[in-house]
Amino acid sequence: MTDSVKHEAILSCKNVSFRYSSGPWILKNVSLDIQKGERLGLVGPSGYGKSTLSRLLAGYDAPTEGQILWKGGKLPQKGFCPVQMIYQHPEKALDPRWRLKRSVSEGWQPDEELLKKLNINSRLWFDRYPNELSGGELQRFCIARVLAPQTEFIIADEMSTMLDALTQAQIWNVLLDEVKRRDLGLLVITHNKSLAEKLCTRIVDLRDINNAADRP
Ligand SMILES: Nc1ncnc2c1ncn2[C@@H]1O[C@H](COP(=O)(O)OP(=O)(O)OP(=O)(O)O)[C@@H](O)[C@H]1O
Ligand SMILES: [Mg+2]
Repeated sequence: MTDSVKHEAILSCKNVSFRYSSGPWILKNVSLDIQKGERLGLVGPSGYGKSTLSRLLAGYDAPTEGQILWKGGKLPQKGFCPVQMIYQHPEKALDPRWRLKRSVSEGWQPDEELLKKLNINSRLWFDRYPNELSGGELQRFCIARVLAPQTEFIIADEMSTMLDALTQAQIWNVLLDEVKRRDLGLLVITHNKSLAEKLCTRIVDLRDINNAADRP
């Protein structure tokens, strides 16, 4: 394998700029390559566009200018997206009208071992609606849900902010174990620099790569 192939980015943004309709530029000329096997921490002050960038990387929004590349091409437009997000507020990821069992990806059920590691009581929970679980329980469910076999890259956007310290440590252990075991890509967005240093192989401050002059 040549060096250039070995180091090809799995997920990247090339000269990406973004604004919400006619609002100010949130991101301007942002370029970032995430290499295979890398666990990247993205930090920066509130309102600088971390979540905005993560939505572009996951394909939920399109850049106003520039390109997002998944393995050098486009993210698949149909079917299961290999880039999956875990949000700060887990209810964002779920349809409130669906019982949890319907929100698990079609044709896939988390195995008992994973459910046990995340302390998920599927027998009790899967018949409930999202508003019938606590925030922490729902977040653990969302973590199991993104660990589908087709997932190749996980973006965790402030995923543990709402949890107590012990639960935070437990779920990060489970997620990190899975990421390492399955060689998944990981982007961690956090305000907690020591957490990012513990989890990640590289940390990028959005202020250092974002050239938006009129950002908040
Ligand atoms: N749907 C939207 N429409 C208009 N402006 C938006 C929208 N979503 C976010 N913004 C604005 O874009 C800017 C960047 O927001 P974003 O959520 O990406 O920041 P962030 O770095 O994730 O902040 P935090 O650390 O507080 O989560 C903010 O000024 C925000 O008000
Ligand atoms: Mg955010």
